[in-house]
Amino acid sequence: MNFLEVNNLCAFYGKAQALHNVSVDVKAGEIIAIVGANGAGKSTLLDSIMGLTTVTGDIRMEGKSLVGLGSAAIVSGGVGYAPERFNLFPYMSVQDNLLVGAFTARSDIERNLATVHQLFPRLEERKNQETSTQSGGERQMVSLGRALMTSPRLLLVDEPTIGLAPKVCSEIAVALRKMRDDLGATIVITEQNANFAMTLAERLYVLESGVVKAQGTVDELRNDTRLTEAYFGH
Ligand SMILES: Nc1ncnc2c1ncn2[C@@H]1O[C@H](COP(=O)(O)OP(=O)(O)OP(=O)(O)O)[C@@H](O)[C@H]1O
Ligand SMILES: [Mg+2]
Repeated sequence: MNFLEVNNLCAFYGKAQALHNVSVDVKAGEIIAIVGANGAGKSTLLDSIMGLTTVTGDIRMEGKSLVGLGSAAIVSGGVGYAPERFNLFPYMSVQDNLLVGAFTARSDIERNLATVHQLFPRLEERKNQETSTQSGGERQMVSLGRALMTSPRLLLVDEPTIGLAPKVCSEIAVALRKMRDDLGATIVITEQNANFAMTLAERLYVLESGVVKAQGTVDELRNDTRLTEAYFGH
């Protein structure tokens, strides 16, 4: 049994189908990346794991089905989510944004805050700053930190590097690796930045128009035309 098993997942927005029989397996302690162009269905896949879309098929974590559970139950069950955009409360402080993430894990607040501050010391230095005045990289740190406040065993991160300079991307990669190595989290990221995905993840899934076009280890896919086709077309 894998830690996370997504089997024949179809996701729908009304009558429009955004995912077609998507299957993804993740072992405990792995970092995997879902790569694909705009509209490929990356966010839809993560939203579906969080119970935010209408689906058919199966999603299991440690053998237990997540389908049909509400998002709060999924978060309480150990799934943390750092969504892609517009996900912070802009006129609240860094600290309050982090505390919003703690609603399902109140007994772990002190420990989780200390972990977040250790990973991102700047969030402690700037804990009273409104997130609306932060840089994009700092906001991404708050977003990851808030997901950690839920004590996740599975961490889903939608496009962690979007709009960030290479130096900040490296800082985010270091933090994600620590979350796996030191905190034991299993991690699924989505990326349009295939280079970032290949430096961070052990395995990749290439998503195109809601279909898994290829999957494999970084070495297996490094020179695979399906990876480049997913971005540049055929
Ligand atoms: N709330 C929604 N209502 C209707 N259609 C939607 C909704 N959200 C997404 N879609 C459609 O589902 C498909 C997949 O979108 P999704 O946001 O998952 O792609 P993505 O890979 O995350 O793209 P991006 O890289 O631009 O974030 C697209 O065709 C999109 O238009
Ligand atoms: Mg998206």
